[in-house]
Amino acid sequence: MKDKLEKIKEEALDALKDLNNLENLEDFRLKYLGKKGELTKILRGMKDVSPDERPEIGQLANKIRGSLEKQLIEKKDVLQDKALEYKLSQEWVDVTMPGRRPARGSLHPLTIVRNEIIDIFMGMGFDVADGPEVELDYYNFEALNIPKNHPSRDVQDTFYINDNILLRTHTSPVQIRTMEQEKPPIKVIIPGRVYRSDEVDATHSPIFHQIEGLVIDKDVTMADLKGVLDTFAKKMFGEDTRTKLRPHHFPFTEPSAEVDVSCAICHGEGCSVCSHTGWIEILGGGMVHPKVLQNGGIDPEEYSGFAFGMGLDRITNIKYGIDDIRLLFENDIRFLKQF
Ligand code: PHE
Repeated sequence: MKDKLEKIKEEALDALKDLNNLENLEDFRLKYLGKKGELTKILRGMKDVSPDERPEIGQLANKIRGSLEKQLIEKKDVLQDKALEYKLSQEWVDVTMPGRRPARGSLHPLTIVRNEIIDIFMGMGFDVADGPEVELDYYNFEALNIPKNHPSRDVQDTFYINDNILLRTHTSPVQIRTMEQEKPPIKVIIPGRVYRSDEVDATHSPIFHQIEGLVIDKDVTMADLKGVLDTFAKKMFGEDTRTKLRPHHFPFTEPSAEVDVSCAICHGEGCSVCSHTGWIEILGGGMVHPKVLQNGGIDPEEYSGFAFGMGLDRITNIKYGIDDIRLLFENDIRFLKQF
């Protein structure tokens, strides 16, 4: 019995010496010290030992157990230190190296220019309003006094969802929606996406952007329209910018005008951007037609107003010297990164 114990001790100490990782350590503990381990097995045989030998054997067994447990703990400490050392050697970070920067996006040029335009109009006391892109025929055409046979109603120009529902072709339907919801004085701008069934080329896109303006109050005149647009143009394109109103026709304004600004590139001298005219058309506008006021629930005898609609894509292209509208929609990161 004694010999057996000594043999197990020798064997266990040898095995412990060879142990070189933490998982094997647990196997070792189970094999020698566990409930079903070698040492326990021997102690079960104590009943066959003569009573006067028992205390000695018992003491020896406990001594061996104690010493193995102690050495196991020591080995565990050593192995844990080694494991930590290894981990630290693998995971070191050089804090003097520059960090890895996260990729940072930038605003789309249309967003930059839209925000700038909103800022300018807010500075003149305008609020920002909003309306749906999927619109009823009533708001897009009917309430705006656009007759049934008007060419812009043709399926060649308008995306219809059914007879009654379409993708809005301009931001003007929000004029009616605003009038329905608010009492004068009204002073809003309405930025938004609009749709027309156009073939894609350098100057056309089936999706583009407008910013609508609507002012309704007592005694509003065409002079107010000109003053607001002139102030806007000077803030947007520079103090030396001039504005010019050309007579035009829209069913929902009377009188109507198209508005040109002096070319911001050549300052009126003539260049390729302004087709050598010195002027660039940026918007349509006029005095809100009495029928349109009526359709919006506003008495044209008491109130008058003006409205305008400008092309955001056009203004963005002028501002940044972009010569192809497609660039605004292709989302090419090499293009967008420049803004
Ligand atoms: N809705 C017109 C267009 O898309 C522009 C406009 C708006 C004209 C408001 C007059 C008044 O061309």
